[in-house]
Amino acid sequence: MDKIVITGGRRLKGEVQVSGSKNSALPIMAAALLSEEESIIENVPRLRDIQTMIKLLRALGAKALFEDGKVLIKPGKNLRPLAPYKLVSTMRASVCVLGPLLARMGHAEVSIPGGCVIGPRPIDLHLKGLEALGAKIDIQHGYVHARAEKKMRGNEIYLGGGFGSSVLATGNVMMAAVLTSGKTCIESAACEPEVVDLARFLKKMGAKISGEGSPRIEIEGVKKLHGANFSVIPDRIEAGTYIFAAAMTAGDVVIKNLEPSHQNAVIDKLRQAGVTIQKGKNIMRVKRTGRLKPVDVTTLPYPGFPTDLQAQMMALMSTTLGISVITEKIYPDRFMHVSELNRMGCKIFLEGASAIVHGVKRLSGAPVMASDLRASAALVIAGLVAEGTTEVHRVYHLDRGYENLESKFSSLGASIHRERE
Ligand code: EPZ
Repeated sequence: MDKIVITGGRRLKGEVQVSGSKNSALPIMAAALLSEEESIIENVPRLRDIQTMIKLLRALGAKALFEDGKVLIKPGKNLRPLAPYKLVSTMRASVCVLGPLLARMGHAEVSIPGGCVIGPRPIDLHLKGLEALGAKIDIQHGYVHARAEKKMRGNEIYLGGGFGSSVLATGNVMMAAVLTSGKTCIESAACEPEVVDLARFLKKMGAKISGEGSPRIEIEGVKKLHGANFSVIPDRIEAGTYIFAAAMTAGDVVIKNLEPSHQNAVIDKLRQAGVTIQKGKNIMRVKRTGRLKPVDVTTLPYPGFPTDLQAQMMALMSTTLGISVITEKIYPDRFMHVSELNRMGCKIFLEGASAIVHGVKRLSGAPVMASDLRASAALVIAGLVAEGTTEVHRVYHLDRGYENLESKFSSLGASIHRERE
């Protein structure tokens, strides 16, 4: 297993390029199953989760290959509609194959993903949506058995849950509905850019979809889809992580290949805190010269402040003198990073789904344990300003979602490298 070793204290300066979006690429790769023909998906990051999805597509009988930032997928006529526990348990996004398999093969068996370190992660909304299209769902031995016993038909589906809309449930239902005859309306659909990207890919395959990016998506089922060439959007969470790192280190960083309009909630909070942000087309400059002011943040579905940047925001507020309150409304238990940040000298207290952050003057480097992908990113950016050396263990979490993280930070002047433990 690897660890990342950081010596803090250097201001980040220079330019960094954002990779393609993991959370866009994964459902799009699953959507390629909706046609027999080959699809080519570009701007795909080289990450462990992408490799897992390739393994899953192959296990389902599709040809799948990653080459030079492109994924080639040729599903062919016959798929084996069984997504095994071994793969689904390592990556929750595997559940995205449920909708496409059901639509193409009329039945699917997909292992239930289960919870994870950021809290319980039910799939009731995915199942409710597929049932509304006419699928019969049974849970047996840890697997979802979905079967279109009669012909599936489009329907009105309300997909709001206790924590708002669901990104992957919206995707799953949309993917099943594109090949289901009649009209489907998804109400309380997720509005995240990744859902919009998935809809754009499906439309390139021949699907009829409108309203993506709003809470009401309408789909007119078609008989058949064809393969498509597509390039995924830049990763807004990776981009956000660099924005926070620049602010954290009082740096001056130009971030390239990002979509600035995806960062509005982050920009709003950081400007309030005193960070200077200039936006251009696919480019942003983040600069901090003076002291920061504490700001309160609540995570919400898009266009609200993203839960996937909550830990990074907490790292920033930890070194901002004063008190800030960070409230988590998507995953109320997503606070595993708090105890690790506190080991580095932060003063964070948990009150239910809120973290009360008392900013301190300096952090001190320490060995810390990464618990999930975004928590790991927060520990790395805390390490960039901590006195002395920080060792982030269990780096495999980072490798799930950040392409070349150490080399990108090194090119900005950070002292960071990877070591074998
Ligand atoms: C996606 O997960 C992302 N993953 C997550 O990113 C991200 O944190 C999340 O959306 C929220 O933005 C991928 O895209 C692969 P949800 P998803 O369904 O779709 C509840 C990362 O670090 N819910 O939108 O699985 C759920 O418990 C990852 O890259 C139900 O109640 O999340 C949560 O409270 C982590 N029933 C809320 O909805 C359901 O059936 C939103 O979750 C589904 C979800």
